[in-house]
Amino acid sequence: MTGTSTTTVGFMDFDLEHTDRLLLTTKQVRKRLDMTRPVPREILLDCIDLASRAPMGGNHQRNKWMIVEDPELKMEIANHYRTHAEPYLKESSEVKVDARGERVASSAMYLSDHLHEVPAMVIPLRLDRPEDLGHSSRSAWYGSVLPGVWSFQMALRSRGLGSCWTTLHLDSEAEVGELLGIPNTVTQVALLPVGYYTGDSFSVTPRRPAAEITFIDRWGQNAN
Ligand SMILES: Cc1cc2nc3c(=O)[nH]c(=O)nc-3n(C[C@H](O)[C@H](O)[C@H](O)COP(=O)(O)O)c2cc1C
Repeated sequence: MTGTSTTTVGFMDFDLEHTDRLLLTTKQVRKRLDMTRPVPREILLDCIDLASRAPMGGNHQRNKWMIVEDPELKMEIANHYRTHAEPYLKESSEVKVDARGERVASSAMYLSDHLHEVPAMVIPLRLDRPEDLGHSSRSAWYGSVLPGVWSFQMALRSRGLGSCWTTLHLDSEAEVGELLGIPNTVTQVALLPVGYYTGDSFSVTPRRPAAEITFIDRWGQNAN
């Protein structure tokens, strides 16, 4: 493992070319997940260890993770996912979209069809529920668990693995929770299928330029 638990590193010890490339190219992977190559559990644990460094409000340490490897459980979870994904994706496909939107829709449909085949599913969890919280507490609640999900994706990406952040199974959270023995006081916040990446390059994630999406001092006053 990286030895991050005990090592202190100098703050300028980064190769920006590498760290920027990681941030620019960590994408949601669906069609390029290798369904045939097993993912060693130790690698997932290393990535969870790295992801657990993400910030959390009040340093509450209320996050857990579930790795699902059992083929029957994966099939049942995938069936729950499909119950929600199929109508959602059908409805989205009826809306006229651009070429990128069409690619995402086709990729999302592929994942839905093949979800049970993924080598591992990873479900990030929080030990409590957000339903009764007000806006700031709810924001802090999600903000204390979701950054770790993104760190987990980047840790995977650095090791040649891909994943896709999904949420559609959450409409069957109770049923999936029961399957996995998760108490109903615990919240599932996502489901990440994980596998080795089958391509040999990652393109840059397309997004609008920072100056276009950033305001300075006044709403509507762009940075450029
Ligand atoms: C909160 C969240 C929920 C998402 N839920 C799903 C999902 O249920 N199924 C899916 O295929 N992709 C899901 N995605 C992935 C998005 O569709 C993806 O980020 C988008 O297509 C852009 O892809 P890119 O980040 O690789 O550019 C989700 C992403 C986020 C951040």
